[in-house]
Amino acid sequence: MPLTPDLVRWLQSAEASAPLQALTAAPPDDAALLSTLTRLRKTFASDRASALVTTARLRKLAGKKFGDRASRMFFSEISLQQASPHSVARHTARRFAGMDRAADLGCGLGADSLALAERGLHVLAVDLDPLALALTQANARALNLAGRVHPIRADVTRPAWDIPAAWADPGRRTNARRLFHPDALLPSLAELLRLQRCCTPHLGVKLMPGLPHQAVPAAAEAEWISLKGELKEAALWFGNLVDEPGRRATVLPAGVSLWARGVRVPVRAPGGFFYEPDPAVIRAGAVADLAVMLGLWQIDPDIAYLSGDEWTPTPFARVWRILDQHAFDLRWLNRRLRAMQAQVVAVKKRGSPIEPEPFRKRLYRHRSGRPVVVILTRVVNRPWMLIGEPLKLATV
Ligand SMILES: C[S@@+](CC[C@H](N)C(=O)[O-])C[C@H]1O[C@@H](n2cnc3c(N)ncnc32)[C@H](O)[C@@H]1O
Repeated sequence: MPLTPDLVRWLQSAEASAPLQALTAAPPDDAALLSTLTRLRKTFASDRASALVTTARLRKLAGKKFGDRASRMFFSEISLQQASPHSVARHTARRFAGMDRAADLGCGLGADSLALAERGLHVLAVDLDPLALALTQANARALNLAGRVHPIRADVTRPAWDIPAAWADPGRRTNARRLFHPDALLPSLAELLRLQRCCTPHLGVKLMPGLPHQAVPAAAEAEWISLKGELKEAALWFGNLVDEPGRRATVLPAGVSLWARGVRVPVRAPGGFFYEPDPAVIRAGAVADLAVMLGLWQIDPDIAYLSGDEWTPTPFARVWRILDQHAFDLRWLNRRLRAMQAQVVAVKKRGSPIEPEPFRKRLYRHRSGRPVVVILTRVVNRPWMLIGEPLKLATV
């Protein structure tokens, strides 16, 4: 049964409070779902019973994005899917430091509004969808931020407010043919750029990480953001929100950035250590910059893998010690794995047509053996394989 603004209001009432708390503490799993609903329907109308159960189940799922605070928040399934994870929203909200107000254009369940309000800003939370506005309001109340979050129903492309700074997180057009194109957004990037020129000079826009470099306007800054090694979004920044025009990779939770400055690095065969740059570094086009920063080289002109003779721990890459390497040869690989009594924990690939999982099944495996990764790639244009050992600080 779909959630409605009225149900969101009821979920915050004294009547719903005790059952919601109990269900949040122990949300029913699939097996207990029907019996829980049947029990609740003896006391509540079926839309209310279903809103209680859905909220408890979504709170559990939302823990991944919102941590402990999820157990006090309100969600619909779609708004949770679209919401910015709290640590990413907190990072993007930092750009608004020193401002006293901003608009959140397309606020959804309010994740970005809340992060801005936590920084002390007053936030005009704008959305066309009444359910999104009800969720934003409920979440602001639940987190004691209602005094600074002001939801309004409006079309963000026709601003009737005068706030020069804003964050925009457009929705995705589900029927678009090219889902990863800025025109597949609602509102589209072109509409948001028009808004930036006419009315909101200091604008941040959240976009999909597949944003092509040529779509970055000249005076803007583009920031690719990853969280725990997973690429989350690209943000475009304008006006006073720009730190430095150009492209940059930011990795969270470390909260450090690397700029792409178009440097060049040597290409040669791997040395003692193998570096896999974070996806934000790769998408921002900052792989060579990482190599220069750490004194590394590329192992192929077209592949984003790096190598070096030393291990420099870095938040911008995962690193393995290279135990052995060879031109692609399955028999050689199995001989070496057997000699090492190795257990292949992962097959990684870049620049190789081979499917990792079926390939892994063809490899020698010692059940409790030494954990290694096998990397299928190209080295100076030749198909190549590396055996790598995961590194721990104690092993240096
Ligand atoms: C991706 S969601 C925002 C998620 C939000 N940042 C969060 O973290 O919870 C996009 C939102 O934009 C809203 N939206 C799309 N077009 C809009 C428009 N023209 N005016 C106002 N809101 C719009 C949608 O209703 C949706 O709630």
